[in-house]
Amino acid sequence: MKLSQQQSSTFLETREKKAAYALNQPVIYPVDGYKLLNELSIGGFGCVYKAIQMKTNKLVAIKYSKENMEKEFKIMNQLQNCQGVPQAYYFGQLNNTYYIIMEFLNEDMLTILTRLKYFSIKTIIFVAIKVIQALSEIHKSGIRHRDIKPQNLMTKYSDSNIYLIDFGISLFQNDSQPDKYVDGTILYDPRIVHRRQEYRFIDDIEMTGYCLVELFKGQLPWQKYIGGRESRIMQMKQEFLDAKSINQFPIYPIFQFVLQNQNNDIPDHNILINKLRKMLQSYNIIEDYIYDWSCNELITTHQFKPRTISFQSQKSNFQDEKQDLNIASEGKIQFVNDQSYKFMK
Ligand SMILES: Nc1ncnc2c1ncn2[C@@H]1O[C@H](COP(=O)(O)OP(=O)(O)O)[C@@H](O)[C@H]1O
Ligand SMILES: [Mg+2]
Repeated sequence: MKLSQQQSSTFLETREKKAAYALNQPVIYPVDGYKLLNELSIGGFGCVYKAIQMKTNKLVAIKYSKENMEKEFKIMNQLQNCQGVPQAYYFGQLNNTYYIIMEFLNEDMLTILTRLKYFSIKTIIFVAIKVIQALSEIHKSGIRHRDIKPQNLMTKYSDSNIYLIDFGISLFQNDSQPDKYVDGTILYDPRIVHRRQEYRFIDDIEMTGYCLVELFKGQLPWQKYIGGRESRIMQMKQEFLDAKSINQFPIYPIFQFVLQNQNNDIPDHNILINKLRKMLQSYNIIEDYIYDWSCNELITTHQFKPRTISFQSQKSNFQDEKQDLNIASEGKIQFVNDQSYKFMK
């Protein structure tokens, strides 16, 4: 596939090209046979465009970067038959711009969270099951994702799967963790990354757990310490996992599973999926995969029994910060409606 030089010169003016370089952004070249529609995202090293394949009218996403994304494409290719991994169609390069053409997906979880503020119990368990199912297949192919965060979890309206994207720092089976510490994901990093130890399969599940807490509560207990000492964030994660009240979370089986599988093996994801299914049953939730964002009318007709649960956790080492640690403190959980609950002091 060739990029059209003629199109590219008209597409981006010289002045804009210079600005793009200044921002460490790649120059965006339209790809032959595709029409660029709009920018979906702009990140530190690249950006993603929505485009349409003119011959077939099929929507695609084109990820551009100044970094060579060949390994990312190879990993996606290896995972083509896995549930929850988008189709990767083509990897190419023009001058200093590399690009991957892939299946177009709909919304990432951060965008949805910004709109909804938090996810319901039902949706959070559905998302948990779908991400663990995707990780099950990814791990069986020998890949550790290493960058699980709400921006990298996406929906596709035509099916109920949750898609994992961005295999930019993922590792093949025999890859060892590069020396360079990747700190773009400190909010979600598993404790092993804070300790600078070798990243394992189970650590993808720990990252998933932190993501789900954010999606469920609207934010993480250590959110406001970003930019502060990393050791404090790590300690807060440990306190969070040790807190007795953690078992009030609908996705508690994830943390229990993480704590019980602290080794290098590929864990048995089915055990975890079954436990999450049991959680659904305990809440009388039918496994229909109707998410908060997919159908509002049905959500309100779901039967609801109001209740409040008291909880008490282990003491926080950071007494002065205890108020911010919603989870690692004592109080009550009030079920606001059948879809959500809030912590009360
Ligand atoms: N296949 C896709 N379909 C639709 N949007 C996408 C797709 N891939 C990525 N995006 C959007 O672009 C953002 C950045 O993509 P990502 O691959 O994570 O790049 P980065 O390495 O810059 O984080 C995502 O958070 C998502 O909003
Ligand atoms: Mg990303």
